[in-house]
Order: sequence, then structure tokens, then C-alpha cells
Amino acid sequence: MPLVTTKEMFKKAYEGGYAIGAFNVNNMEIVQAITEAAELEKAPVILQVSAGARKYAKHVYLTKLVEAAIADTSIPIALHLDHGDSFEICKDCIDGGFTSVMIDASHYDFDKNIEITRKVVEYAHDHGVVVEAELGKLAGIEDAVNVSAEDAQFTNPAEVEEFVSRTGVDSLAIAIGTSHGAYKFRPGQKPQLRFDILDEVSRRLPGFPIVLHGASSVIAADVATVNQYGGQMPDAIGIPEEMLREAAKKAVCKINIDSDLRLAMTAAVRKHFVEHPDHFDPRQYLGDGRDHIRDLVRHKIVDVLGCNGKA
Ligand code: G3H
Ligand code: 13P
Ligand code: ZN
Repeated sequence: MPLVTTKEMFKKAYEGGYAIGAFNVNNMEIVQAITEAAELEKAPVILQVSAGARKYAKHVYLTKLVEAAIADTSIPIALHLDHGDSFEICKDCIDGGFTSVMIDASHYDFDKNIEITRKVVEYAHDHGVVVEAELGKLAGIEDAVNVSAEDAQFTNPAEVEEFVSRTGVDSLAIAIGTSHGAYKFRPGQKPQLRFDILDEVSRRLPGFPIVLHGASSVIAADVATVNQYGGQMPDAIGIPEEMLREAAKKAVCKINIDSDLRLAMTAAVRKHFVEHPDHFDPRQYLGDGRDHIRDLVRHKIVDVLGCNGKA
């Protein structure tokens, strides 16, 4: 099956009360782990590439790896640009074979966000590509975006209809309390999501697909493994999986997960080196990392997203 856009995936997910996993890819082992899990669970999947991933692995290597995954599996796969911060990077990815792009102009004011998003939508739609935009600001750190907790802003539901109708965007990322990275809540703080905002947004945009960024749960067992095998991660609190399951039953059709994959790879590799101090073949330790990510993604698909059997 060739690469698909997210249009059909989101329509079915909205109607079926589940979400599609959008997993960040940076190298071959990660692409293989995610797509093998999705194939085993018969789940549609979104592979997403950040600006940092393009810099690390190069655009052409990532698109060729995804092409290989397409040849090797029978599930619907969308290739998505994560957090595009300009028209130019979105255009590059549209021209370079992506089926979906995110334009993240959420750090600009409302009208400027609309202007940039509209420009990307026009170019993308002319080329059969779908667009995700963001309204509101998540806290957290990625390569390209660094928003402190004080600067984070929940999405204002009163703005969403105007934003969607003036931009023509296909899906909308909203800020309801998730954040990027492994440290989402301060120690002792109780994780909370603003489901009231999600409900009000979906009341104003019936049938419209909503996206949740910063949705890693920061699996405690992996943090423990990292620390048991020589790591020094402070206590980390992520988004409880039952909250994500709840969101997936509502209007949330795409759930972004990266930090959990990073943690799974690191836990498995650290464990491997301590248990096999004589090993030096990357296939051995990266193989363990790949297996562990595959198992994690299967768990997310079945127990969190609910998209197993929906391919
Ligand atoms: O939300 C962003 C993703 O986790 C990508 O992170 O920019 O470090 O590749 P990155
Ligand atoms: P996490 O850092 O919670 O995995 O979020 C990833 C993300 O939102 C990618 O866009
Ligand atoms: Zn994100």
C-alpha cells in the first residue's frame, strides 16, 4: 500500500472512538520497531519526523526507510512533518514526499498564526497533502521549540472556529495540559488534563480531528531500568495512560509519542551493556532497543490508542 494521508484514518478514528499513534522516527531501528508493532496489531500508524530528525538522519534517509517500511508491511502509513516552524520546511517536506505536515506557528499571535498556516494549507492542498496546526502553547522542550511552563497557554475554545475556517486546516493540536519531554509535572504534582477545554473545542468543531502533543506517559518501569543500570534520571511524571485512553474516545484522533520511545531505547541499551559488558556489536544492543520499542508501541496501540485491528 502506498503512503496515505491522515484524512481517512482520522475520519474512522473519530467515528470509532479511538486514536492513531504518531511516533517520532530518527533511525532505522525506530522505523522498524514501530511499523513491526503496527503490522502485528493491524493498526494504521503515523511516522513523524521533526526538524531535528531531518538534521540528524537527513531527509532522504528517513523517506527511504519509510519507503522500505511500506514495502515490508500491509498497514496504512502516513509520513508527517512534526513541528514545522516555517512555510519553507513544510514546502520542502511536501515536495519531498510527505503526506502530512504540521505548521507550528503557535508562538505567533492569532492573526499571524492564521496567515502562516493559511499559506501552508494552500500549498499543501494543491499537492494532495494534509495540514495540522496548533492553537495554544504547550510547555516543554524540543530542538526547535522551547516554551517554559510560565509561557505555556491553554487553547482558548472561543478561537477555534475562526481559526479553522480562516485557515482551512485539516486537524488541530490543542493545549490542555500535556507538555513535551520526560518532565511534564513537578514531583508531587498531580497530573491533570483540561477535558473541559477538549469538550468545548469539539462541541464547537463537531467531527473535526484534534491532536494531542506531549503525550508520553514516561513509563515508570523504563525510568527504573535506566537508573538500575547506571542512569541518573530524576523522578519523571508523564500523562497517565488512562487519561489518553479517555481523550482517544473523545475528539482526539492523533496522539504524539516520542519521549517514551527514547526512554525505551535507552533502558534496553543500558541494560544490555551492563548484562553483556563484553559486547561491542551494535546489532546486539540496538536489536534489544528495537525489540523493546516494538513491545512498547504494541502496548500503546492496544491499551492506550485502541487502534488495533483498524488497518
Ligand atoms: O515534540 C517534539 C518531538 O519530541 C521531537 O523532538 O525536536 O528533539 O526531535 P526533537
Ligand atoms: P512527548 O515528548 O510527550 O513524547 O511528545 C512528543 C510530541 O509531541 C512530538 O510532537
Ligand atoms: Zn509535539
